[in-house]
Amino acid sequence: MAFAKISHVAHYVPEKIVTNEDLSKIMDTSDGWISSRTGIRSRRISTGQQTSDLAIEVARDLLAKSGYAAEELDFILVATITPDSNMPSTAARVQAALGAVNAFAFDLAAACSGFVFALATAEKFIKSGTSQKGLVIGAEVFSKALDWTDRRTAVLFGDGAGGVLLERSETEHFLAEKLYTDGSKTGLESGMTTVANPFYQGTDVNPYLQMDGRAIFDFTIKTVSKSVKAMIEVSGEPDYLLLHQANIRILDIMAKKIGLPREKFLANMQHYGNTSAASIPILLSENVANGTIPINGNQRLLLSGFGGGLTWGNILVLM
Ligand code: ACO
Repeated sequence: MAFAKISHVAHYVPEKIVTNEDLSKIMDTSDGWISSRTGIRSRRISTGQQTSDLAIEVARDLLAKSGYAAEELDFILVATITPDSNMPSTAARVQAALGAVNAFAFDLAAACSGFVFALATAEKFIKSGTSQKGLVIGAEVFSKALDWTDRRTAVLFGDGAGGVLLERSETEHFLAEKLYTDGSKTGLESGMTTVANPFYQGTDVNPYLQMDGRAIFDFTIKTVSKSVKAMIEVSGEPDYLLLHQANIRILDIMAKKIGLPREKFLANMQHYGNTSAASIPILLSENVANGTIPINGNQRLLLSGFGGGLTWGNILVLM
């Protein structure tokens, strides 16, 4: 029987820091509003790097940390809703940059749940015995999908990438998993531009992210909390919960609803904003780097993603 484990973690964010104060100079907002409503104080914004550039940095770091050669990788999955292009995929660009000639590569789109969905998918490749090791990366340049005249969304997001090296193990590290989608629920959309087409008779689609923040907030508090609680009731209490980083108030309320100490809910959206599919692996990588989460095989981590689709999903992993 084959099992999978996370053996290395890495993250990379663009250099440019944009503070709430900076945003208040270009739109009708304030540090007071943004930090009190969301907890966000600054975010990283790409000044030219593409999503694949961020993902490639993470991939190189993972290879360096593991000591594996690129040729040893069997797969590269990139969770993103802001790919450089639909074709080639961001993952294919990473594969080319690494020279990972034996790896198949594809992108997975599940918005802010993307990393959790990709990790669940990758684990199955190893569990089935068809793959030995590979990379799972969440990467976004969300700044290019935002309407910078819309203060309701532009202040919330940031750019970044994080990822893990997943490899075969003799023992079980994936203790529980449950993924969900409810495509009937709206409130979070990111359109595609319509190309000039002489036969097209539909209406133009807004290419930018639009969000009914309050509806998503309520959904998260109610539905995602319930799903996390259900997993904990069956599989036991985690040492830490790494939830998608959208809003500090969501973490505060969810901690109460789930009934676990707030200190178990790690947070870094203060510095990065909402980085969509990248938020959970960036949070994981930072907390491994600062010693909060030692990779010693004993840390029970509950990863929980939620966002557009609507999608949400939880994985309890031993690291
Ligand atoms: N600066 C100043 N004022 C603002 C800003 C801003 N940046 N944005 C909105 N406002 C104003 C609004 O216009 C409104 O004013 P009004 O009352 O005069 O109309 C007021 O502030 C309150 O707006 P709300 O939208 O009701 O504010 P709320 O407290 O709900 O906070 C927020 C909004 C932060 C978006 C919150 O609802 C939230 O975090 N929602 C969840 C988002 C989320 O979890 N997304 C997950 C996934 S994202 C993905 O998958 C891509």
